[in-house]
Amino acid sequence: MSDATELKTEGADEAPLVMGIDPYEKNWMRVSVLLLLVFLITVTVAGFAMGIQVNGVDTEVDPRTVTDSEPWATPGLREISPGQYEAWVIAQTWAFVPRELEVPVGSTVKIHVTSPDIQHGFKITDTNINMQIVPGQVSTMTYEFDEVGEFPYICHEYCGRGHAAMAGVVKVVSATATEQDSDT
Ligand code: CUA
Repeated sequence: MSDATELKTEGADEAPLVMGIDPYEKNWMRVSVLLLLVFLITVTVAGFAMGIQVNGVDTEVDPRTVTDSEPWATPGLREISPGQYEAWVIAQTWAFVPRELEVPVGSTVKIHVTSPDIQHGFKITDTNINMQIVPGQVSTMTYEFDEVGEFPYICHEYCGRGHAAMAGVVKVVSATATEQDSDT
């Protein structure tokens, strides 16, 4: 601080000190402010317009007893109405229960995941479903599967020895394929 004052005083004796910001630096400052605004808008839209919120007390469960009662006692897929499904998936050391979810193409699936033991991850390949699975919390996201194919889900938070083997798959099948299934 004192150094700067001295320099200023010395400079003032010889030539007037001109305060200014380099135009190049000014542009970077503009970009930084703009980026902050973009982030602020993104977070606001995600949180309030799209309803993407961090888990709160309303999604708390007891990890020691969560699998004793429904719907967690029988995890899996339930058809709520035509094309609308809810899936309950348990992430535990070191497997997902169930390992497979099969839905007809065009289905909207609300996926709930919880862990009875330690922290895991839940990411469905080629979708924006990417959740942290914390014991004592239920993580929920909804996705519309409008493409036929297999979408593997993996645990993407290191959870120990069997972490790499922790995976499952969402099978999105054509509507006719599911009708044939139910016929047989
Ligand atoms: Cu479960 Cu990594």
